Amino acid sequence: MLPAQNQTEPGRVPGHIAIIMDGNGRWAKRRMLPRAAGHRRGAEAVRKAVMGCVSQGVKFLTLYAFSSENWKRPPEEVDDLMGLLRLYIRQELQELDENGVRVRFIGDRSRLSDDIRRLIEEAEIKTGANAKLTLIIALNYGSHAEIVRAARDIARDVKAGLVDPDDITEDLFSQRLYTEEIPDPDLVIRTSGEKRLSNFLLWQSAYAELIFLDVLWPDFDESSLAGAIQEYQARERRFGART
Ligand code: FPP
Repeated sequence: MLPAQNQTEPGRVPGHIAIIMDGNGRWAKRRMLPRAAGHRRGAEAVRKAVMGCVSQGVKFLTLYAFSSENWKRPPEEVDDLMGLLRLYIRQELQELDENGVRVRFIGDRSRLSDDIRRLIEEAEIKTGANAKLTLIIALNYGSHAEIVRAARDIARDVKAGLVDPDDITEDLFSQRLYTEEIPDPDLVIRTSGEKRLSNFLLWQSAYAELIFLDVLWPDFDESSLAGAIQEYQARERRFGART
C-alpha cells in the first residue's frame, strides 16, 4: 500500500515515463562535495525511481543516463559515470530481476568499453522475459544521431530494393529507432528546474506531457514521482483533437 501522499488515480497512471536526470553537480556543489558524490547519490535516486515505478504500476521507464554529448565532460567524470553504471548493473541486477524488471539499453554501443557492452548484453538477456516494468537506460544516446541512423538504415533498404520510398511511413520510421517496440513516452520529467529536452527522445515525445521539477536529481524519490504522476493526471490529453 502506497503512503497517502503518494497515492495516484489507478487506471490513469502513465504507461511510459521518461526522465532527464539533472542536477547531480549542483546537488554536490551546494554541499561542497565533489561532483562524483552527486552522481553517487544520483544512482541511489535511480533505485527509488525504479521501485517507485514498480509500485505505481508504470510499465516503461526510460532514464537518460549518458548522452552522446556527455563525452565532452572531463575524462575523470566520464569514468565516474561509467563506473557507477557498471556498479549499478552488477549490484542491482539480481534485485531488478526478482522484481520482474526487464532491462534494456538504447544508444550507440560502439563507443562503450568492451566490459560495459558485455554487462549490458548480459543484463538484457538475464531479464529478457520479465514484464512488470521495462527499464530502458539511454547510454551514449542522442536523438539526432538516432534519427539519422534510422534514415540511413531505410536508405540502404531503398537502395537494395527492399523498401519502396512510398512505403516509408511514420510507423516504419519508428521501427528503425532504438525504441522499436517500446511505446512512446506519455510523460517526460526533467529535474533541476532546467526546461530543455537536450536531444532526448525527440521523435518519441511528440505528444508527451512535459513536467519540469525543481528538485535536484539526487533528491528525487517516490514522492517526487507520485507528485509528477498526480500532475500528469490533472492534465487533459487530446493528441491534437477537439473534445
Ligand atoms: C546530470 O547531472 C546527470 C547526469 C549527466 C548523469 C546521470 C547519471 C546518474 C544519475 C548516475 C548513474 C546512472 C545510472 C542509471 C545508474 P549534472 O552533472 O549535469 O548536474 P548539473 O547540471 O547540476 O551539473
